[in-house]
Amino acid sequence: MTFYLSMEKAYSNLKFYKKELILGPLFKMLEVVFELAMPFLMAFIIDEGIDKALNFDDYSAIYIPGLIILGLCVLGFFSTLVCQYFASVASQGFGTKLRNTIYKKVLDLDLEDAERFGSGALTNIITTDVNRLQVSVAMMVRLVLRAPSIVIGSLICAFVINWRIAFIFLGVVVLIAIIMAIIIISSSKQVLKVQHTLDDIVETTSDSLNGTRVIRAFNNEENEIKKYETKTKKYFDEIKISNVINALTNPLTYLVINAAIILIIYFSSSEIIAQSGMSKGELTSLISYLTQILTALVVVSNLIVIFTRAFASKHRVDYLLSLESHIYKNGMFSEKNIAKGQQIIKFDNVSFRYRDAKNSTLLNINFEINKGETIGIIGGTGSGKSTLIKLLDRFYTPSEGTIIYKGKDISEYNFRELRNEISIVNQKPVLLAGTISENLKMGKQNASDEELIKALKEACAYDFVFSKNGKLNATVEEGGLNFSGGQRQRLAIARSLVNANEILVLDDSSSALDNLTEKQLNNNLKERSDLTKIIISQRVSSLRNADKIIVMYHGQIDSIGTHDELLKSSNLYKEIYESQTREE
Ligand SMILES: Nc1ncnc2c1ncn2[C@@H]1O[C@H](COP(=O)(O)OP(=O)(O)O)[C@@H](O)[C@H]1O
Ligand SMILES: [Mg+2]
Repeated sequence: MTFYLSMEKAYSNLKFYKKELILGPLFKMLEVVFELAMPFLMAFIIDEGIDKALNFDDYSAIYIPGLIILGLCVLGFFSTLVCQYFASVASQGFGTKLRNTIYKKVLDLDLEDAERFGSGALTNIITTDVNRLQVSVAMMVRLVLRAPSIVIGSLICAFVINWRIAFIFLGVVVLIAIIMAIIIISSSKQVLKVQHTLDDIVETTSDSLNGTRVIRAFNNEENEIKKYETKTKKYFDEIKISNVINALTNPLTYLVINAAIILIIYFSSSEIIAQSGMSKGELTSLISYLTQILTALVVVSNLIVIFTRAFASKHRVDYLLSLESHIYKNGMFSEKNIAKGQQIIKFDNVSFRYRDAKNSTLLNINFEINKGETIGIIGGTGSGKSTLIKLLDRFYTPSEGTIIYKGKDISEYNFRELRNEISIVNQKPVLLAGTISENLKMGKQNASDEELIKALKEACAYDFVFSKNGKLNATVEEGGLNFSGGQRQRLAIARSLVNANEILVLDDSSSALDNLTEKQLNNNLKERSDLTKIIISQRVSSLRNADKIIVMYHGQIDSIGTHDELLKSSNLYKEIYESQTREE
């Protein structure tokens, strides 16, 4: 077997935003140049402009550089706007694409992996993690180049103005860098810890919201609340430490900077500098450069926090994306037509055990199904009926034995196309929020209204659908909650009938239907003689007319035969039948 390993990574989608990722920072650099030029002009105004204005009544040395400053401000404003625009396009676009990639991946995941993640974790990845990655992309465009350039540029300008004083700058930068490095190294672990705890909380919240009904049903609220409180307490303790560390950053940097400003003023008024002739204007500009360095360094420390977080998210997204899904397993579907009455499905000594289960759920299952037949599967809850179908649908892979479909091992088929041939109505059918028509078309987007109506009629769902406002376009609420259980089942059956080509499986799908409706449904299905039907039920009445009935008992086949044969050959079947007729 060959596997397709996804090469998709969290940041892969950046390749679509090359233009923005290059142009954005370039425009930002334009702004940096303007910002660096500003103190120079200010120095000129202070030194030349004020002097000329006072002594010669000539204001040109004030308003000309003043106008240039104004012009630079306007230009800087526009280049910031452009950069912001690119940052926003790149980060939002990237986030959207990543969400789509992840969503597609989630839908393609093997059931086993999806169950292992849980819906909470998946929600968390698609919201929190993607957001963090998105923020990191915006920061890449806006600040990653800017902050270091401001620091370096300001340093260079300081050297140009006065190299002696510039050495104080250099000392300040190195000192702050050291302080920050210490803080960042000690806090990054803390940041990650806090992050994990927060993720855990989000996950618990989302899982509990989904399971509210279950939690209440089992009177387990207190227990759950206690567990939750332990987690939030942990978060509180961790974030306290993390915040204290972060809180130290700013005062420490300001301390160093202000000390440096005092040093500069001291030196510039001292004799050495007085000899080298530093002016008031130069002094002012030096102080503005120092302030710019300060702001840039604070930004750098924030950036590091943002990227530490994004890195944790990247890890998780990468892991999810790296999961191989069997859908991409190689194998072409050679469309093969099987004549009616010929073997279409064969279970050859199939056994199966769930990953964490102790015992096999299915053991040595052998049976054959011919095209066009109606097969009934009966057995108590937990006897393995639904598991059998999950194997047929390739949600799971048999631990032993093979399933043959149209003469070939089912694992060799292309997953998607197999799904097109095998239509399954699950035990708990899921309807999605939208309209009836949208739901019916899930398996066949281009189905015509006539096809939908035909399927609705076959599924005995036509009457209640067409009595609704909007008919085919009537609203379906999330989970189909605006329909009764029996109506949901019939809608799900209709949905499967729309795209049923070869095999139709009804997994306990008529349990909420009354006997009359069910009889009608079975009669309608009989008309579809080209379809092979597998009907799982706990009621003998639902499948007594099947061509073959498979009786399941604790993961094994008890017996196979027609209703009449089984009454004679299977005590188990006879017992089930008799207990049910007695009830009636
Ligand atoms: N995802 C799962 N992980 C582990 N065990 C499972 C899982 N799904 C079902 N089982 C177990 O497999 C057995 C058969 O379940 P199932 O096939 O759903 O039975 P049936 O459809 O006949 O009621 C049960 O004992 C059930 O607990
Ligand atoms: Mg079941």
